[in-house]
Amino acid sequence: MPDSNHPLTEPLPDLQKALINVSYLLMDLYNLSNPMLLSHGRSLAKLSEGLARHLGWSEEAVRTVFLGALFHDLGYLATPLELVGSPLPEDHRPPNMEVDHTILGARLLARVEVLRNIIPVVRHHHEHLDGSGFPDGLKGQAIPAEARLVGVVHAYQNLRHGYGPTPALGDRAAREVMQEDSGLLWDPVMVRGLLAFLGPVEPDREDEIDLS
Ligand SMILES: [Fe+2]
Ligand SMILES: [Fe+2]
Repeated sequence: MPDSNHPLTEPLPDLQKALINVSYLLMDLYNLSNPMLLSHGRSLAKLSEGLARHLGWSEEAVRTVFLGALFHDLGYLATPLELVGSPLPEDHRPPNMEVDHTILGARLLARVEVLRNIIPVVRHHHEHLDGSGFPDGLKGQAIPAEARLVGVVHAYQNLRHGYGPTPALGDRAAREVMQEDSGLLWDPVMVRGLLAFLGPVEPDREDEIDLS
């Protein structure tokens, strides 16, 4: 998290201090609105930052990835609390709810000058390499690199933790799904990097789903 001991925040010129202050404000708003959104963003930010560093990205790119991941679902602030991550079937949710959160999040941030560089992450974290993602159906390298990275980490985390009606998978099963979709949905260099960065496969716990 961006705090006084975090390498991302020190030493900081005034503009970057302003950025962190705005970030704290957004985090407070998140927490008031939906604590789940904040913890989802925090864990995504931490793992995305680690992967970006593992891949040797610049400090500026690492910061963009970290803050972009932290606020990637900002647009859900406009969605009723009980519907975010809800196990309800799609026809019981507002139409376009998933697409709208990417567009709204990007629009909200357009007014915050110091956070403009994280807009591509917020808008494009659900794009897929093959163009099947949203909101713009971007393909391959047309998806900004920071958004591609956060998208990869996001997919892995959602597999591990479960999302909506989709149950959580063990580490091994989640990695297998990521490898199956590597090159189709996800940037293969980033998938390889993520699996290397994660290190040895975590042993399955008894309460996790057995896919065999
Ligand atoms: Fe999202
Ligand atoms: Fe998310």
